[in-house]
Parts: sequence; structure tokens; C-alpha cells
Amino acid sequence: MNSRHIFAIAAVLVGAALVFTFLDRTEAQSSPAALTGMVSSAQEARMEGVLVSAKRAGSTVTTTVATDAQGRYAFPRNRLEPGTYSIRIRAIGYDLDGPSSVQVSGQQPAHLDLKLRKTQDLAAQLSNGEWFMSWPGSVEMKNGLLNCTQCHGLSLIARSRYTAKEWPAVLDRMGRYSQGSMPGRPQLRPGRASGNPILAQSMSGREGEAPVRGELITKTAEYLATVNLSSSPTWSYELKTYPRLAMLGGFQHRARRARCARSQTLGRPRVVQQARARGVSGVSEHRHEG
Ligand code: HEC
Repeated sequence: MNSRHIFAIAAVLVGAALVFTFLDRTEAQSSPAALTGMVSSAQEARMEGVLVSAKRAGSTVTTTVATDAQGRYAFPRNRLEPGTYSIRIRAIGYDLDGPSSVQVSGQQPAHLDLKLRKTQDLAAQLSNGEWFMSWPGSVEMKNGLLNCTQCHGLSLIARSRYTAKEWPAVLDRMGRYSQGSMPGRPQLRPGRASGNPILAQSMSGREGEAPVRGELITKTAEYLATVNLSSSPTWSYELKTYPRLAMLGGFQHRARRARCARSQTLGRPRVVQQARARGVSGVSEHRHEG
């Protein structure tokens, strides 16, 4: 491929990106707001990058938008039909103080200002990425524990009270679960892979593999006892959090696009990918069932 070809392809891609951006904006602008408001807290008068989610009573669809630099959010009318909506927010470090429900009519846009308060339970809001970032210890050790997130979150580990002595039995139990097991639905594998020396030594990730390699069990057990609650009622390290999504820039349009069923079928919404990359788990919750 010569440079002229590359230039032509690049030009087409840039053109397509512009068209999509334009369509996205016109779609958002052509629909008047069904529900708008401001998000604030005692700490921040105008909170940018707060995810505001609305779910109509009886519906399985949750729609999410993000606040702009002025702390404003707006749900376009073509996304919220009239009804009573429950409101949730996602802003690390904060809980919704109120109000948490609103009536949306077909005529006038509803207005609902949201007040947030500092959360009492920051740990409950931490994503896996934030736990890993907060945990002391080497990158190698943490890398070895990535497998643990295949079946459940790291908060389960951080909140446990197992000592270094008790961990090996737990790790052994983890190695017996089949892929796709969840704490609410544990599924034991029929047999152990220990008959196969290669599988017995390898990391979890494929069916029949233990989450921690045999020779690393003791080291891992000792490490896990330093990040959980085995020796104190609270964590010995500071809980670190990612900045809110507003930092990504141009976020709102993407957030608006992300919550419609149509965009789901066009592929995983970019906002979810970006949020995931930053470890924001709440964004994935606008699932579309039924
Ligand atoms: C293949 C799936 C799977 C993997 C991988 C996995 N777990 Fe689990 N884990 C489970 C299931 C299922 C439960 C709930 C049932 C139970 O407790 O045995 C659970 C529960 C737990 C609990 C809470 C239970 C308790 O007794 O407190 C801890 C702690 C835990 N896992 C730690 C880990 C660690 C550490 C890793 C990585 C080294 C890991 N898990 C990897 C499936 C898995």
C-alpha cells in the first residue's frame, strides 16, 4: 500500500467520523429535553461528570446521561416516555441525597435538581481498578490476581478476614469453581485438573485451571492477608479513586448515545469502554433487557 492509498483511507475515515459526530449532535439537539436539572453538593456547587440514571417504574431499561461542566444534565424527550422515574447517580465519593424520583409528562420538561452528599461507605463504590490502585504491593503480585475478577469483584477479597494461614484453603476452593461461577451461583467443576501437570501449574483463565499457581500460593496468601481485614477492622491503606468522567472531554454526547438500545446493537458503546477502562463499573448498568 503506498502513501496515496493510506491518505485516501485516512480521509474517508475522518469524513465518516465527522458525519457521525454531526448526526449524533443533531439527534440530541432535535429532541427537546424531557427531564433536566443541576447536580450539586456542599463540596462542589456544580458537579461535572456525574452519571444520572433514570428508570421508569415497571421498565427494565435504565437511561444514563452525564452532567456537563456547569453541573447540568438533560434527558432528551425521545429517550424518556411519560411516567414516574426513579433516579440514581454515580459519582465516586458521593451518594444521592435526594430527590430520587420524578414525574415526566409528555408536555413540559420536568426539572429536578439533585443534591449529593459525601458517602459514608467509599469502599462500597470502589471498582476493581480502584482497589488494585489502592492496594499496596508489587505490580507482579497484583497481575497474578487479575484472575480473581473473573468470577467476582475485588471488594469481596478486600472485605474478607482470612489470615495468611487460612488463605490457601480459600484459594484451593476458588480453583475448583468453573468459569462463569458467581458467588450467588457457585458451580463446582466435576473433576480437578491436578492430574495434568501443565494445567495444575497454570493460571486460571481457561476451564480447569487454578487461579493461583501452585508455587505462588504461600506468597499470595501472605500478600492477601495484607490487603484484607484480617488484622484490623478497617484497611491499612488509603482508598484511591479515579477522577470523574468529565475529564474525558466531549463526554455528554457519547453518554447520551450510549444508553439507547439501538447503539447497543451497533456494538459496545464507547462510553462503556471508556468508563470500564477507568474502572467505573456503574456505567455498564444501562442494560437493555426485554
Ligand atoms: C472460577 C471462579 C472464581 C475465581 C477465578 C475466583 N473466585 Fe473467589 N469466589 C468464587 C465463588 C463462586 C465464590 C462464592 C462461594 C464461596 O465462597 O466458595 C467466591 C468467593 C470468594 C470469597 C468470599 C468467600 C469467603 O469465604 O469469604 C473470597 C474472599 C474469594 N472468593 C477470593 C478469591 C481470590 C483471592 C481469587 C483469586 C486468587 C478468587 N476468589 C478467584 C469464584 C471464584
